[in-house]
Amino acid sequence: MLATRHILLTIAVAILAAAQQLPPMKRVPPAPPQPIPFSHKLHAANGIACQRCHAMPEPGDFAEIAGADVCMSCHSAIKTASPAIRKLAEFHQQGEEILWEPVYLIPDYVFFSHSTHVKKAKAACAACHGPVAERDVLAKERDISMAACMDCHRAAGASIDCAYCHEPR
Ligand code: HEC
Ligand code: HEC
Ligand code: HEC
Ligand code: HEC
Ligand code: HEC
Repeated sequence: MLATRHILLTIAVAILAAAQQLPPMKRVPPAPPQPIPFSHKLHAANGIACQRCHAMPEPGDFAEIAGADVCMSCHSAIKTASPAIRKLAEFHQQGEEILWEPVYLIPDYVFFSHSTHVKKAKAACAACHGPVAERDVLAKERDISMAACMDCHRAAGASIDCAYCHEPR
């Protein structure tokens, strides 16, 4: 009796956890072309944490992408002969910003905060971006539509009031 209850509870928790993420896109759009070919898989395999390149400075809405100075803290010594790293070094020397093409983008009339979701809701990066550490190239593989956000809010017991995500009229 107790064992059955335990199994049912485990299943219920698993279903809730499965719902607390953004669903996969039915059709994944092609990955945007990037100024330098960048592999998450290669960097993850070398044990480099997401936060090393994606700081979330206060108020924490935005996840930054590290600049060439951070890249060069390793690449002034690693793979210096590679054409991609030469290009990176050139950006660094010229003091030019690397204009990465966005993969995930919501319109400005929607509020979204990374730190709320990562710190308060304890959502993993993979819950909304998929298995990034296994990807050589990033494409928008998770759905960031209003319905998808709302499904997770319902499953997590967060508000689905219009004004929670949009400026009240
Ligand atoms: C903590 C150290 C570290 C940082 C920071 C870092 N990388 Fe790397 N990067 C590596 C390692 C290690 C490899 C794998 C080298 C190998 O294959 O032997 C690598 C490989 C690469 C390669 C593949 C080079 C080739 O031709 O094989 C590219 C391109 C690259 N990094 C770009 C970047 C960019 C852009 C940034 C900044 C956004 C960055 N890296 C930040 C350590 C780092
Ligand atoms: C060595 C630096 C580095 C590390 C470590 C790193 N990233 Fe990135 N990340 C980048 C760069 C450079 C880009 C832009 C190029 C691209 O989209 O592949 C990027 C892009 C992204 C994007 C798409 C951003 C957009 O515009 O929508 C996501 C999501 C992301 N990273 C998540 C992660 C996660 C999750 C991890 C840890 C598993 C991680 N990153 C680790 C450098 C890094
Ligand atoms: C609850 C879902 C969710 C979680 C969890 C999440 N992200 Fe995002 N991420 C998004 C959305 C939505 C966007 C597009 C935001 C926009 O356009 O303002 C985004 C955009 C990004 C970007 C592009 C820059 C930006 O802020 O727009 C990077 C880089 C990124 N995420 C990295 C990460 C990393 C690293 C983690 C884990 C520490 C993470 N994300 C966790 C949903 C999420
Ligand atoms: C993993 C489930 C999950 C996903 C996916 C998710 N949310 Fe949330 N969201 C939460 C939870 C849980 C909270 C409440 C956090 C708290 O305050 O404790 C929250 C809070 C918020 C807030 C409150 C404002 C704040 O920063 O305090 C906004 C706005 C929001 N989410 C927008 C979005 C949008 C837009 C998306 C889709 C791109 C999204 N959320 C996707 C779980 C999720
Ligand atoms: C959990 C966050 C969240 C809540 C709650 C929410 N929205 Fe949205 N809404 C979004 C996101 C994200 C988009 C952008 C969708 C996209 O770009 O595909 C959006 C887009 C819209 C749009 C633009 C047209 C469209 O459908 O793409 C309208 C209108 C809208 N929302 C109205 C509402 C109304 C009315 C409510 C209350 C019933 C509401 N929203 C509640 C996140 C939310």
